Amino acid sequence: MKHLISMRDLSKNDILHFIETAELIEKGKMKPNLKGKLAALLFFEPSTRTRFSFESAMKRLGGETLTMSGTGTTSAKKGESFADTIKTISQYADILVIRSVLEGASRYASEIVSIPVVNAGDGANQHPTQALLDLYSIVKTQGTLENITIAIIGDLKFGRTVHSLVYGLSYFSPRFYFISPLHLSLPEHIKNELHSKNIIFEEGREIDNLVNKLDIMYVTRIQKERFADPEEYEKLKGSYQITSNILNNVKGNFKILHPLPRVNEITTEVDNTPYAYYFEQAKNGLYMRQSIISMLLLT
Ligand code: CP
Repeated sequence: MKHLISMRDLSKNDILHFIETAELIEKGKMKPNLKGKLAALLFFEPSTRTRFSFESAMKRLGGETLTMSGTGTTSAKKGESFADTIKTISQYADILVIRSVLEGASRYASEIVSIPVVNAGDGANQHPTQALLDLYSIVKTQGTLENITIAIIGDLKFGRTVHSLVYGLSYFSPRFYFISPLHLSLPEHIKNELHSKNIIFEEGREIDNLVNKLDIMYVTRIQKERFADPEEYEKLKGSYQITSNILNNVKGNFKILHPLPRVNEITTEVDNTPYAYYFEQAKNGLYMRQSIISMLLLT
């Protein structure tokens, strides 16, 4: 594997290999050596977790980073194209990590440069490194990826982490509940793919009567920045809020995941329950990104 662009490019074995490597790194049984390697982190869109965890991942393994946060101080301001920017920076680094508002930006970049490219989120399309750390988090909390019952809640239309997670989990016989406002339902092409793989799923609007069936509740933010009409966002923004009141009869293994950032879809009192796993999940991103970078740079 040269690039990591889409979960649809990965086999079940690829996913398991990324997870096994992350686990070995976390347990201190493997320490890939990235000394002399340089990652260019090109973030055309804002980020906290993805950018900082990639930076930490490189540096903790002895590598270094070049970071761009927005194009404000680059020659894109003078009219330089995305292609010329990417081709130029690829001359200075060993791997490119790209976040863009444009769907397909990382795929395009991978076709015009000669070094590995990692998709760190492309518009409303995919976020494969997040999906891999989400899968690692599920393994760590459930002991397996197989036959998980999971509700995915919130913005399933624009949520790129959702799209990538659904593709990744679909290798492992999940039972999905997709809970969203009607206008933010999972895209038809993803549902069609689930049907073709005989994956069981239900769509709905309410979560309260489901909670005690779940192994995982995966909560997402309504993606304000993807709405063409701000009034539509205002109508939908408070659609779901997870409070501790609805967590009374959950299963013993039940955990709440969220790719973060959150706005108000999980109240902060939930953070103090044994079910909240989202900050540990963010930490798992460090080990997974160490796994991803070392597999792309060293194998
Ligand atoms: N989950 C995630 O992608 O977070 P950031 O946008 O902060 O990187």
